[in-house]
Amino acid sequence: MLDVEHLGYSYGTAHALEDVSLSVDREELVVVLGSNGAGKTTLLNTITGTLTPQTGTVTFEGDDITGVPPHEVWRRGLVQVPEDRKLFTELTVAENLELGAPRDLSDADREARLAEVHELFPVLAERPNQKAGTMSGGQQQQLAIGRGLMSDPELVMLDEPTLGLAPDLAQNTLDSIAEINDGGTTVLLVSQKAQQSLRIADRGYVLENGTVALSGASEELIDEDRVREAYLGL
Ligand SMILES: Nc1ncnc2c1ncn2[C@@H]1O[C@H](COP(=O)(O)OP(=O)(O)OP(=O)(O)O)[C@@H](O)[C@H]1O
Ligand SMILES: [Mg+2]
Repeated sequence: MLDVEHLGYSYGTAHALEDVSLSVDREELVVVLGSNGAGKTTLLNTITGTLTPQTGTVTFEGDDITGVPPHEVWRRGLVQVPEDRKLFTELTVAENLELGAPRDLSDADREARLAEVHELFPVLAERPNQKAGTMSGGQQQQLAIGRGLMSDPELVMLDEPTLGLAPDLAQNTLDSIAEINDGGTTVLLVSQKAQQSLRIADRGYVLENGTVALSGASEELIDEDRVREAYLGL
């Protein structure tokens, strides 16, 4: 479904990504692990067109989308839930969710998607009128994911959705992500929580200094000392 080949990106002279190749098949849950500065966010941004890669190609559903602008990538069904969530803090929960849906969506489809998001994250149903900026960190993360799902994406890419969450909340979020994947949505998860993420993922990649240091099935990676090393940045 998603094929990234030989992707390279530099900020000026600083190489953030070098020759990164990875793939995600339909209905898979794939995790990208890596310590701070490994290039995870840069990778997602080059896939969704927020950044244009200097080398390599991104293919989605058979189409070359390298350098295609973010809104067009979104329209094709590839949605990124960014690390900093990018919520409209002065708007309500309901308004933020609304902004995640395509403008031309029928009322019936809109209601159906909202119902799915509400089932996944009940707090969003309980507090439609609360301003997004006054929700807790965990609730804001749920809202950001929920908004991403309102367009009914083929592939959702989540950038460190458990960042800053207490361990039990982080686990809840990962459980929700597994549930989203069970519902048929393909997921690319970026995470620093190696062990917990590999438990819900089919496969994983470890990014180190902008290159893929290791990849494989989750059950293989979970026993790898190098995963812990990469995760801890040792
Ligand atoms: N706008 C920028 N200008 C210059 N360098 C940048 C910029 N954004 C990121 N970098 C650098 O590129 C490298 C990769 O950064 P990136 O944000 O992709 O890492 P990351 O794996 O997402 O890290 P984290 O886990 O901290 O979010 C880092 O060395 C970072 O300092
Ligand atoms: Mg990042």
